[in-house]
Amino acid sequence: MRKLTPELLDHLPHDDPGAMRSRADLRRINFFMGNERWIASAIPENTHHITEVGAGDGHLLARLAGKFPQAEITAYDLAPRPAHLPLSVKWIQGDLFAQAPPAHGGTLIANLFLHHFTDPKLCELGAWMRDFDTLLINEPLRALLPLMLGKLAAPFIHPITRHDMRVSIEAGFQPGELAETLALPQHGFVYREITDWRGAIRLVCQRRE
Ligand SMILES: C[S@@+](CC[C@H](N)C(=O)[O-])C[C@H]1O[C@@H](n2cnc3c(N)ncnc32)[C@H](O)[C@@H]1O
Repeated sequence: MRKLTPELLDHLPHDDPGAMRSRADLRRINFFMGNERWIASAIPENTHHITEVGAGDGHLLARLAGKFPQAEITAYDLAPRPAHLPLSVKWIQGDLFAQAPPAHGGTLIANLFLHHFTDPKLCELGAWMRDFDTLLINEPLRALLPLMLGKLAAPFIHPITRHDMRVSIEAGFQPGELAETLALPQHGFVYREITDWRGAIRLVCQRRE
């Protein structure tokens, strides 16, 4: 069963030195896990709009703005707009659950974001996502091997990251749980779920043409 424990990074000011170190660790973790490479490769070439929920430091979207110049890009996060972000990316700061769901469709990305929320909140979020054509979801796999890899990484990461990595895995997902918890529609979409030994569970949900 998923176990939810508050993450330290979520309760620190954005410019706290420990929070900044932990966000840098997160970039390295994303690199090691291949998360951003997988997301970039899974986005449909002709997508007209890319939306990321929980966009963090905007690292992924800055990269996607270069790769998909035809697409409009929108980000949601509690954090303020990152200074380095290309001006073409629209940044919406605040609690996602307080924002009306966009109706523009296109591709929605959630990278290491959904595990923050309880099952009822995820059901709400599933409804928020209903107008998108493609969902690309990358979350921690709740399993022993990722927990052991996290322990091996412990000497190289900040104590905030060390704590948050463990609680993220404990709040992560096992096969089948993402679509079920989000209560995604059973008809009209094609689903593909994969797991990666480095600790990711990945769901692609694509509207049928
Ligand atoms: C673990 S970080 C992942 C950030 C980014 N996707 C990455 O992989 O580097 C989770 C992000 O979700 C954001 N977040 C958490 N709760 C949120 C909410 N209710 N609404 C919007 N953003 C939220 C946090 O501010 C944080 O940037």
